[in-house]
Amino acid sequence: MLILSIESTCDETCAALVEDGRTVHVNVTYSQIAEHNKTGGVVPEVAARRHAEAITRVFEELMKQAEKKFGISRDEVIEKIDAIAVAQGPGLLGCLMVGNNAASALSLMWQKTLIPVHHIEGHLYASWLDSGDREAKFPMLILTVSGGHNQLFLMEDHGKYKLLGETLDDAAGEAFDKVARMLGLGYPGGPEIQRVAVDGDHLKYELPRAMMYNEHADEFNFSFSGLKTAMRTLILKSKENEELESALPDLAASFEYTVCDTLLRKLKKAAELYSPQEIHIAGGVSANLRLRKMLEQTFPEGMVHYPALKFCTDNAAMLGSVAYFRYIADPEKYSTWQNSVPDVELKFY
Ligand code: KG4
Ligand code: ZN
Repeated sequence: MLILSIESTCDETCAALVEDGRTVHVNVTYSQIAEHNKTGGVVPEVAARRHAEAITRVFEELMKQAEKKFGISRDEVIEKIDAIAVAQGPGLLGCLMVGNNAASALSLMWQKTLIPVHHIEGHLYASWLDSGDREAKFPMLILTVSGGHNQLFLMEDHGKYKLLGETLDDAAGEAFDKVARMLGLGYPGGPEIQRVAVDGDHLKYELPRAMMYNEHADEFNFSFSGLKTAMRTLILKSKENEELESALPDLAASFEYTVCDTLLRKLKKAAELYSPQEIHIAGGVSANLRLRKMLEQTFPEGMVHYPALKFCTDNAAMLGSVAYFRYIADPEKYSTWQNSVPDVELKFY
């Protein structure tokens, strides 16, 4: 089953063609990062306008690549597509409207089923992509760590999730972005901090880890605002002493290590309690190399899975994967294009 998927929730305009939920034939991403670098973050109105400018070009590129890849005409590519998937939320409203309008228009024009998908559910499926025939083993723990989301799920089957915990304030990626800004580094902050931290001593500064001790010890919620404040205090002190430049690598490394260690400890606790078969990390921060290394050193070999780097940050292919598993779980619901009723709630229990 070939699914055309569209993503436009935040600052990436994306389209993909994915077969049977795993094989990515074409994956096109237009990133607005250069634009948002100028303002140190995403301005929703600017992002929405960029999506509006980019969407048809992204689609044109997808079609060109598909014609080449399959060696067939454009009409034949369209013929091959079985359904259309789109991230229906959560996201910035103006941005969402661009992708959703495009998906609805194509669904109507081609009379093909529209499968609305939850953006975070997309991230949960990103490590399925291009993973060969490996069957997923349930139950699994999935940690989503992106700019907007920081949640820990127990996934017991396709479409069956239990939310164990989430951030009470900033998501891990947001903390990376804000601290990078305080350090005078670019946007997005995660890769910048990772780059600078390579030369730093990660144990140089003892930083706070929240929601870890006493009455919070058995909880799976996260909080990064205290860590951000501690970094702010340290950075201001370094600036006063005119030593920010020399302290930069140690500050970046200590911050990066503290975030990773906090995530890791929560995962370890959850693993003791739920005995998962697999552990998956998803979202932009799952690209972090220190996090990957620390996880691999902690859990048995082969247990930890993350998406390929290109599928860690926002992309359309991950939506095509979710849509496929949704479809095969309930083909009747999606049997004709007229049945396409928006239904994107993640079901928690
Ligand atoms: O999933 P994503 O592309 O978009 C959201 O849905 O938010 O995640 C973007 C986030 C940004 O906060 C960025 O700083 C972070 O992922 N990020 C990283 C790395 N690469 C991206 N954080 C830490 N280390 C990285 N290598
Ligand atoms: Zn995302």
